[in-house]
Amino acid sequence: MEVIIQEPHEGANLAADAIVELLNAKPDAVLGLATGSSPLGVYQALAARYRAGEVSFARASAFLLDEYVGLDADHPQRYRNVIHRDLLDHVDLDPARVHTLDGLAEDIPGECARFEQAIVDAGGVDVQLLGIGTDGHIAFNEPGSSLASRTRIKTLTAQTRRDNARFFAGDESQVPTHCLTQGLATIMAARHIILLAQSRAKSEAIYHLVEGPVSAMWPATALQHHPHVTVLVDEEAAGRLQLQLVEYFRRSYDTKPAWQGL
Ligand code: F6R
Repeated sequence: MEVIIQEPHEGANLAADAIVELLNAKPDAVLGLATGSSPLGVYQALAARYRAGEVSFARASAFLLDEYVGLDADHPQRYRNVIHRDLLDHVDLDPARVHTLDGLAEDIPGECARFEQAIVDAGGVDVQLLGIGTDGHIAFNEPGSSLASRTRIKTLTAQTRRDNARFFAGDESQVPTHCLTQGLATIMAARHIILLAQSRAKSEAIYHLVEGPVSAMWPATALQHHPHVTVLVDEEAAGRLQLQLVEYFRRSYDTKPAWQGL
């Protein structure tokens, strides 16, 4: 696991660089996209690179991590609509090639199985962007999630519903109680994982991710078993890491061979 401590815009640019490099080497790459506030800087940087003619998404495809259950098709917080606003409206990624979970599906197990198969059919995810919840969730794998979980329905914790009330005009009662989410094993199958976290609110989750034992109670710790994870955090999110570790991470990044990339 590589931990890079930088200003949020620098972290976003590093993630965007990695995605641009991937797309230029492999134009039909499969991207794993997160919603929420953490990846917004990456999407803005990607849109800027696209406008500058440095990258095209025309042959790429993508998979979203999760979706709320029960939001109307035109609800602004439905993740299918969120990713349109945040990314698809600004680059040439074909919406037909962006796979999402249907939170209104009648047959939920069937919908989750269809989604898992679509990832396999696409050849797997090349690079997966992740945020992290204050309770340590990745996608919506809440504490207690099986480390071997696959795409399924989950109940959101009270903490996540409180945290996400800001997207629902501050009204927690409007935040859905359930979601469909890629499982931890689904996410772990991605070839490269880039997790972004900003602010003090994320510092406890980042501490567990980097220093804690692997535990279903802090689901992001499953990433310790992944061979290629990049964690891009700001000073505040890194605020609970051991000082000597922080120094080590800084020295490692400063002395990293240029050819190595993320
Ligand atoms: C969203 C997702 C979630 C968020 C997490 C952090 O698709 O999968 O895991 O990444 O809740 O949310 P933000 O980035 O809004 O702090």
